[in-house]
Amino acid sequence: MQDARAVDTLSEEEAEVELANLAATLLKANLDYHADDAPRLSDADYDMLKARNSAIEARFPNLKRADSPSDMVGAAPSGGFGKIAHAQRMMSLGNAFNPEEIAEFDERVRKYLGLGANAPLAYTAEPKIDGLSLSLRYEQGALVQAATRGDGAVGENVTANARTVVSIPQTLTGTRDILPDILEVRGEIYMSHADFEALNKRQNEAGAKIFANPRNAAAGSLRQLDAEITRARPLAFFAYAWGELSAPLADTQFGAIERLKNLGFSTNPLTVLCHGVDDLLAHYADIEQQRASLGYDIDGVVYKVDNLDLQRRLGYRSTTPRWAIAHKFPAELAWSRLEAIDINVGRTGALSPVARLTPVTVGGVVVSNATLHNEDYIAGRGGDGVEIRDGKDIRVGDWVQVYRAGDVIPKIADVDLSKRPPDAQPFAFPTICPECGSDAIREEGDAVRRCSGGLICPAQAVEKLKHFVSRGAFDIEGLGAKQVEMFYHDDQLAIRTPADIFTLKARDDENLTKLANRDGWGETSARNLFAAIDERRTVPLARLIFALGIRHVGEVAAADLARHFGSWQALVDAVDAAGPAAARHLSADEAEAKERRIAAQESRRARIKPARDAVWDGIGDAARIAWSDLTGIDGIGATVAVALVTAFGQTAERASIDRLVAELTIEDAAAPDTANSPVAGKTVVFTGTLEKMTRAEAKARAESLGAKVSGSVSARTDILVAGPGAGSKATKAAELGVKTMDEDAWLALIGGT
Ligand code: IVH
Repeated sequence: MQDARAVDTLSEEEAEVELANLAATLLKANLDYHADDAPRLSDADYDMLKARNSAIEARFPNLKRADSPSDMVGAAPSGGFGKIAHAQRMMSLGNAFNPEEIAEFDERVRKYLGLGANAPLAYTAEPKIDGLSLSLRYEQGALVQAATRGDGAVGENVTANARTVVSIPQTLTGTRDILPDILEVRGEIYMSHADFEALNKRQNEAGAKIFANPRNAAAGSLRQLDAEITRARPLAFFAYAWGELSAPLADTQFGAIERLKNLGFSTNPLTVLCHGVDDLLAHYADIEQQRASLGYDIDGVVYKVDNLDLQRRLGYRSTTPRWAIAHKFPAELAWSRLEAIDINVGRTGALSPVARLTPVTVGGVVVSNATLHNEDYIAGRGGDGVEIRDGKDIRVGDWVQVYRAGDVIPKIADVDLSKRPPDAQPFAFPTICPECGSDAIREEGDAVRRCSGGLICPAQAVEKLKHFVSRGAFDIEGLGAKQVEMFYHDDQLAIRTPADIFTLKARDDENLTKLANRDGWGETSARNLFAAIDERRTVPLARLIFALGIRHVGEVAAADLARHFGSWQALVDAVDAAGPAAARHLSADEAEAKERRIAAQESRRARIKPARDAVWDGIGDAARIAWSDLTGIDGIGATVAVALVTAFGQTAERASIDRLVAELTIEDAAAPDTANSPVAGKTVVFTGTLEKMTRAEAKARAESLGAKVSGSVSARTDILVAGPGAGSKATKAAELGVKTMDEDAWLALIGGT
C-alpha cells in the first residue's frame, strides 16, 4: 500500500497487474471478514484499495476484470451489512421438553381463551428447522428485501444473498389481482446434510474453513458480503410464518401455509393439523422417527394454535407467542472421552484422522467414531491458518463434544479444556504413512497430508481396487469390496492392480490351489466370477477413465474427457504432451506463492503476473498447445489436468494402467451427433425438477447432441429447460428474454421421449 503510484503514471501493463492483485486482495479481505469475523485489513485500507481499483478502472476501462471488486455485491466491510428494522418484530418460541409441558401448554391456552378441557381446539404441528430465520418482503409480488432476525427488532440486509437461493421466489406466483400488495414471509434458511457434506469436502480440498454443522454452514453462507459466494452455496428455505401483510392470508395457520405454498414458497410437507395433546404427541413421535432420514437438521416440533383469530386473542409475552411452543428433541450433541486418534489412508493417499470415542448416545444413535478432518483441524486451525475453536487443539484423553445429525458423519465440535488430563500431549500427526512407511507429504496450499507411496501402499492399492470394481466403474458382479480385500491378500491368486483382475482366470487355470477350493467359493461361483470379468473386457472410454481413480477425476470429468478426446490413445497422447506444461503450471503456482510471501515481508503488493510468466518462458509450443487444449475443455481445469499428468507420469501407476489397457477393448466415445441436431452449439440450462430423466441423463443427452450445458443463466444462454419448482433461473431467463420450455417441449425438440 505504501508504494502506490499516481494512477496517471501507470503503464497499461502495470495497471493490469495491479488490478489482478487488487482483485485477489479485496476478495481475500471479504472472505477473511466473513469466514472468521476477524478482518486482517483495516477498514481504512480496504476502502483505500477499493478506491484505487476504481481509479485504475476509470483510466483503463478496457482492463476492468470480470471479477472486478467494483462489482462485488454488498457493502464494504467497514459497514458490514446494512440494517433493516423489521416492520413487525421477529419473535422466538417458548420451549418444552416433555409431554407434561405440552399438556401444561394446552391447559394455559384453554384457560386464557376460556375454553373447557374438552372443547374442540385445533393445532398445527410441523418440524422445527434448525437453520436461521429470515424475513422476506414482497411488494406487488416482487421480492424487495430480505433480512436476518438480528435482535428481533433490527436485522441485517441480506437481500442480494437471498436472491441467489433457488427456493426463494423472486416473484410470487399468481396474477396481480390476487397477489397481496405487501407480504412479509418468514421462514428458515437451512442446508441439507448432503449439501453440507459436499461443501465441507470442497472446503477441505481447497484448504478453507470447515463448518461444524449444517446450521453454521448455512449462516456462514448467507452472511457473505459477496453474494456470488452465497450463490455457490446450496441453501434452501422453508416458509412457516409471516410479518406485515396488506391482507390476511387465510383464517387458519394451516390455510395460511397452504396459501404460501400456492404463492410459490417451499413449505414443510410434514405440517399437519392435530386435535388435542395426544394427537400432538403422536405426530411428535412420528416426526422424531423420520428425523434421521429427512436429509436436513430439525431440532423439535412446533405446535401452533390453528385459528388465527384465537392466535390474535392469545397474543405475545415479551418475545414469544402464547399461541405456539417448540417441543424440542433431546440434544444431538454429547460429550465423550477421546480414546485414540487413528489414521485412515484413502484411495488418493489422503491421511484422514478418525476419533475413537468411548461410545456415547447422540440423538438416539450410539457413536464411537467421528471424523477429525485433517491435521489443522486437530491443531485448532482452519485451512487458512486462522484459529478455530478459539485455537483449542484436540488431544487423546480429552473430553470432546460430539455432533451428529441424521446420516451426517459424526464430528468433534469442541473440547473441554477443564477436563484435560495433565499428561495429555498435543497430537503429533504422522509424517510417514502408517500403512506402508512412505513419506506422507503435505503440499503447499493442501489441507491434506498424503502418502507418497502410490500403488506400493497397500491401503491405497486396496481402496483404488474397490473403486475400480464399484458401480459407476467396472461394476463386476461377484467382485465387491469384500472380495477385493480377500484377493489382495491371497498370495497365489493375488489381485493387487486392476490388470490382475483380467489375468485371474489364466492364473487360476495354471494353479493347483484353485479359486473354487477357497473358503466361501465353489465351482459355480468361481465360474460366474470369471464370466462376469470377461463381460467387462470391453469397456466404454468414460467408464475406464473414471475407474482409474485419478484424483479429481469423477464421473462427470471422465465423461467430459471421453467426449472431448473420443479415444484412449488421443487422451494418452494429449496428457503426455501436456506433461511439461503441467510442471510449469505448478512452478508458476509456487512462484506466485513465493512472490506473495516476499511481498508480504516487504510490505508491498505482490507482482504475481511477471512471476508466473517467467516460469512459462521457454516452454515448447507443443506442450503449451496440449495444455491449453486440455484445460480448455468445459469442466476440466488446471486441477484435473495436473492430476492426470501426475497419474500418467508416475512410473508404477503408468505401468499399472498400461498393463490394464492391454487386457481391454476400449469403446471410443461417440462424437456428438451434431449433423442432425437442432441444439448443436446451443447453450442449455436445466432447472427445477425433471420428471422424465435425471439431471445427469439430461446433461449427457444434450451434450451428445452437441449442446453445451451450463449451470447458470446468462445472456449467452440459448434455452432454459424449466421443470416444476423452477425459481430464480426462470426469472432471470425471462428478464433476459431467454427461450424457456418445459421438459416435454425439450424432449419434443430433440426428438426423444
Ligand atoms: S414459528 C412467532 N415455526 O425457531 C413464531 N419457528 O426457537 C415464529 N423455527 O426464531 C416462529 N422452525 O427461527 C416457527 N416451523 C417453525 C420453525 C421455527 C424453526 C425457528 C425460528 C425461531 C426459532 C425459535
